[in-house]
Amino acid sequence: MESQERRLVFRSLLICSAVFIQAQFSCAGDCPADGRTWVTFGAKCYHFVHGEEEAIKSYTFDSAKTICRGFKLLTIHSAEENEFVIKYSPQVWKGNVNVWLGMYYDTDTDTMRWFNDKPVTFTNWEYSPYPSDLPKVETCAALHSISGRWENVSCDEEEENGVICETAQKADPPKRKPNALLSTLVILSVVAVVGVSAGIWFVHQRQNSGSPIFTAFEYHPPFRVPDTDESCLVEAEETDGMP
Ligand SMILES: *[C@@H]1O[C@H](CO)[C@@H](O)[C@H](O)[C@H]1NC(C)=O
Repeated sequence: MESQERRLVFRSLLICSAVFIQAQFSCAGDCPADGRTWVTFGAKCYHFVHGEEEAIKSYTFDSAKTICRGFKLLTIHSAEENEFVIKYSPQVWKGNVNVWLGMYYDTDTDTMRWFNDKPVTFTNWEYSPYPSDLPKVETCAALHSISGRWENVSCDEEEENGVICETAQKADPPKRKPNALLSTLVILSVVAVVGVSAGIWFVHQRQNSGSPIFTAFEYHPPFRVPDTDESCLVEAEETDGMP
């Protein structure tokens, strides 16, 4: 009995905290709530695509773009952002991973451009004494997750690299208040429901087991309780007497 009660209380607490964590998560939901792990740095959210058991997952440029559909492939705009990628990569991948950069060769301007249309200001190309022999239109770029240096690689030829998706954090202050309020309401109603159910359960359990606390309140009528037929009659008479 006691252990059962304790288990119920424990379970209620578990449910409450799960709901609370869930609400917190969506409250802080400046990053997409799509079930994937997004980490923030600056004003952006990043999703490091990882395999099971830290296995390196490599993808072609096209499948990388498919994985990040709705978002962008990694773009780097500062030394700090480059540093963030180097620092966070070991949490997801073991060893060096070449990561696709969301960059393409723009034939109009004869330069590399970011997919997010921001100009390429910061670069971190590795030192290479020879110019790349890749046809320019087939030139993509990849970042070495350990050194942080960038390399020109072929966009095709079944080349496979790691993937980081990025997206801007949603800076939407007016939307956050109702969200927080809603979460609070959800938490409160869940707590209320759990509390009431627990209460009912306790009463029910005590009634069944006839525990001393409840027996104290047991009603012992001083006179004979009328049987079902009589009580119906009494009720009917009372109803008739009403104006
Ligand atoms: C890669 O290509 C870009 C643009 O063509 C060039 O500026 C850069 O130096 C190249 N990097 C390497 C390491 O070859």
